[in-house]
Amino acid sequence: MSAFSGKVALVTGASSGIGEATARLFAKRGASVVLAARRRDRLDALVEEIEQTGGTASAIDTDVADAASVEAMVAHAVDTFGRLDFAVNNAGLGTKVYPVTDMPDDYWDEVMAVNLRGNFLCLKHEARAMLAAGNGGAIVNVGSVSTFLGTPGATAYTASKAGQLGLTTSASGELASQGIRVNLVCPGVIDTPLHQAIKANLGAEAFDGIRQRKHLQRFGQPEEIATCIAFLCSDEASFITGSTLTADGGFHLSI
Ligand SMILES: NC(=O)c1ccc[n+]([C@@H]2O[C@H](COP(=O)([O-])OP(=O)(O)OC[C@H]3O[C@@H](n4cnc5c(N)ncnc54)[C@H](O)[C@@H]3O)[C@@H](O)[C@H]2O)c1
Repeated sequence: MSAFSGKVALVTGASSGIGEATARLFAKRGASVVLAARRRDRLDALVEEIEQTGGTASAIDTDVADAASVEAMVAHAVDTFGRLDFAVNNAGLGTKVYPVTDMPDDYWDEVMAVNLRGNFLCLKHEARAMLAAGNGGAIVNVGSVSTFLGTPGATAYTASKAGQLGLTTSASGELASQGIRVNLVCPGVIDTPLHQAIKANLGAEAFDGIRQRKHLQRFGQPEEIATCIAFLCSDEASFITGSTLTADGGFHLSI
């Protein structure tokens, strides 16, 4: 029997990058997976791929910044598979580079709406479903090294990612007594479409400087973050809650 057999996992931002790799891994480990994002064609293609390899998955159009959409997403998971054990709040954006003095107010609002409000809305409804079922559960939020490092040019993104730390630690304290663990994974630069957009906005030379700051001297792969998320959901992480797991090739240790 696979490690996650009989479990149900919900992954937001499953249409590409880290979310896509996480959905694949959870399905491979036996979970029934709910894929949530806005690009339905990509979600449907991933459902088909998972089912062709013997897994179980279902897709739902979701905008994590919209409360009704998030509520419907969680209801879809419970209605389709009967329960919710794991939730991965991964949907995010914020690749534009602005000095704080020039940052459009609308851009600030957009980043906060998806990365922080979206994470809050998802966690709120996921935790409600887990509490109602009484089976406990594990929630993993996806932050960034920007959660705890200043990132010039990315003030909105950094503030939203720092906010996820407070959300994670506070919610973990509220939910622990009912068997729900809440943790935060903090990736360094990972090779995804988001990463390619940052490279285009920052310029190739500045971007390579980031690679050189990593102790491992390379960017990460989405699958290397998916395994961290799966670990935090697994029973092997049964004593871990309110924690951050940094997976950045040593970037945050460099000066
Ligand atoms: N790639 C990196 O270098 C890196 C580094 C640190 C943290 N992260 C974080 O990892 C997470 C995933 O990023 P990625 O690199 O895989 O990027 P990505 O652009 O490949 O994927 C982001 C996903 O979020 C979805 N999304 C965006 N806005 C949404 C909304 N309003 N509602 C629903 N879905 C929405 C997108 O459709 C996509 O599926 C993000 O939270 C990002 O901040 C990424």
